[in-house]
Amino acid sequence: MKILSLCGSIRDGSSSELLLRAFRSVLPSGTEWSPVDLKSLPYFDPSCQFSNVPALVTEIRREAFLADYIVIATPEYAHGIPGILKNALEWLICEETMKKKVVLFIVSPSGGEYVLQYLTETLRTMDLLPSDELTMVINNARNQLSADGTVDPDLKNSLIELSKRLL
Ligand SMILES: Cc1cc2nc3c(=O)[nH]c(=O)nc-3n(C[C@H](O)[C@H](O)[C@H](O)COP(=O)(O)O)c2cc1C
Repeated sequence: MKILSLCGSIRDGSSSELLLRAFRSVLPSGTEWSPVDLKSLPYFDPSCQFSNVPALVTEIRREAFLADYIVIATPEYAHGIPGILKNALEWLICEETMKKKVVLFIVSPSGGEYVLQYLTETLRTMDLLPSDELTMVINNARNQLSADGTVDPDLKNSLIELSKRLL
């Protein structure tokens, strides 16, 4: 199984990043995991969407094409999608991502209902395939995940259950 991952927070010690690490740790050995470095992406420019595409974007689109799943973990910012994540998604509006299944983790102390709604709508508009069964909202991440890799047992079980729904 191959996964392309995107983290909507570039903050040091990000709970979303810790969540991605925790999810990766429960996946079958041999799973290929390719993280997108959102900070390295240029600002999306429609004039480079299909010609003169930046090399990094071409590479990420290829990784997306080869991936079985795109895994996204993100906080909610001002009731919306963090800009850095939206920027990456705009580059991923392309044939390579069409009909790709998405595993979605919303990491938000308030429940993240806005970002869940907006992001799901954006992903569907991009012809990606988010689904209820592969979506999880985590609203106590700061107490459930540690930088040393410790994961709250209940959260770990939920991640294991979710992982069983993949290929
Ligand atoms: C600029 C900013 C705006 C935020 N807006 C929201 C919000 O609208 N809803 C919410 O639940 N949390 C909001 N938060 C809190 C983040 O969801 C929370 O800090 C989250 O844990 C950050 O994720 P991270 O640990 O992956 O960086 C906001 C945080 C920042 C920095």
